[in-house]
Amino acid sequence: MPRSVEVDNVLAQLQSVGAEYREEQPGAREQLIQLSRELISRLELPSEAIQRIGWAEPARAAHCRIAVDLKIPEHLKESGVAGISAKDLAAKVGADDVLIGKHLVAMNVVAENGVDTYVATGLSNALTDPKYRDGIIYTYDVAGPSFRALPEYLKKTSYALPTELTNGPFQHAHKTDLPFFAWLDQNPPYLEVFNNYMSAYRAGKPSWVDPGFYPIQGRLVDGFEPTLSDIVLVDVGGGLGHDLRELKEKHPSLPGRLVLQDRPEVISSLSSTGETVFEPMSHDFFTEQPVKNARAYYLHSVLHDWGDDDCIKILQQLKPAMKAGYSRLLINELVVSGQNAPWSVTSMDQLVFVLGAMKERTDADWKSILERAGFQIVGIHSFAMGSEVIIEAELA
Ligand SMILES: C[S@@+](CC[C@H](N)C(=O)[O-])C[C@H]1O[C@@H](n2cnc3c(N)ncnc32)[C@H](O)[C@@H]1O
Repeated sequence: MPRSVEVDNVLAQLQSVGAEYREEQPGAREQLIQLSRELISRLELPSEAIQRIGWAEPARAAHCRIAVDLKIPEHLKESGVAGISAKDLAAKVGADDVLIGKHLVAMNVVAENGVDTYVATGLSNALTDPKYRDGIIYTYDVAGPSFRALPEYLKKTSYALPTELTNGPFQHAHKTDLPFFAWLDQNPPYLEVFNNYMSAYRAGKPSWVDPGFYPIQGRLVDGFEPTLSDIVLVDVGGGLGHDLRELKEKHPSLPGRLVLQDRPEVISSLSSTGETVFEPMSHDFFTEQPVKNARAYYLHSVLHDWGDDDCIKILQQLKPAMKAGYSRLLINELVVSGQNAPWSVTSMDQLVFVLGAMKERTDADWKSILERAGFQIVGIHSFAMGSEVIIEAELA
């Protein structure tokens, strides 16, 4: 195949962004990943693309799922730099040695340091951590079948998009008429893996509490008025409280108390852990917010699970609790750009679509929802190459 100008262009960009990466410039890592994907798609033949999409990636996903069941990442980690032979590994996990390794090596999940001798990688070591392991289980068992059901589901509806929480690709795949969160409650092992994975999905990515993203000191700490309420932030629908832990870890001198709210099924899994960073509270966000006059009410990846009318109901439940001119509403969500939205945004758009008949929103969508709910946007904060933004709003 002749070399193309496009390939040369991508190679030149990789070179220059590589220099930025070495200087540790924000966003350079994400740009390198994007350019590397572009390079592959410019180099790859259609026959190779179909092989990758159709078998290589599904096989990788299936073998990752098998690997976490068999605790292969743990055995690789234990074997250190010497690694472990396919035979010994197979004997330890009680599986046939052909089941283990080769394709995961080819797909860079594990590595080989001799013929049929496997060693750990950063990714396989991460899979020994329950929050990442549960990411494999959740995406394979819960999300995966929903995507596989999508073509048949859409054929059945004559390509009309799902509009209800109880009748979409997820329900079609899992043979249920329960909405996604109610289904999780009925399937506690998956509720647990979902909650664990929520704490891992963004690990290491630019976070709103990092310097240069949302000015926590200037917008939350300065002007904090403990006589109004000593609560600085309420994380509404905050899952297991990973955002609050990160906030306190990165801003240890943050004044005031932190409150975590979620459904009782989620909050009850925290009660025995002796939490010190925040106060857990069962609260249905479709009912009036009980914590009054907090400095901020924070919703992270909550509203993308709901249609516009439900979002407005959720936001309106916050209004009576908020002090005009003081309390801030912080919405941490993806924003879909007009052109060339990145895969991290479009794939989340697809995920909420198959699980809950929802979609990620544009700037204009957020503006319209907030206006309809009686809020005004006072700022939108983002970070280089980050996918999420903080939309900061106040009572209109
Ligand atoms: C996509 S998760 C986001 C969790 C967390 N904020 C994060 O960003 O990792 C949505 C959260 O909303 C919670 N949730 C769903 N319905 C709720 C309700 N009616 N009241 C309170 N929380 C709810 C779920 O239990 C879940 O923890």
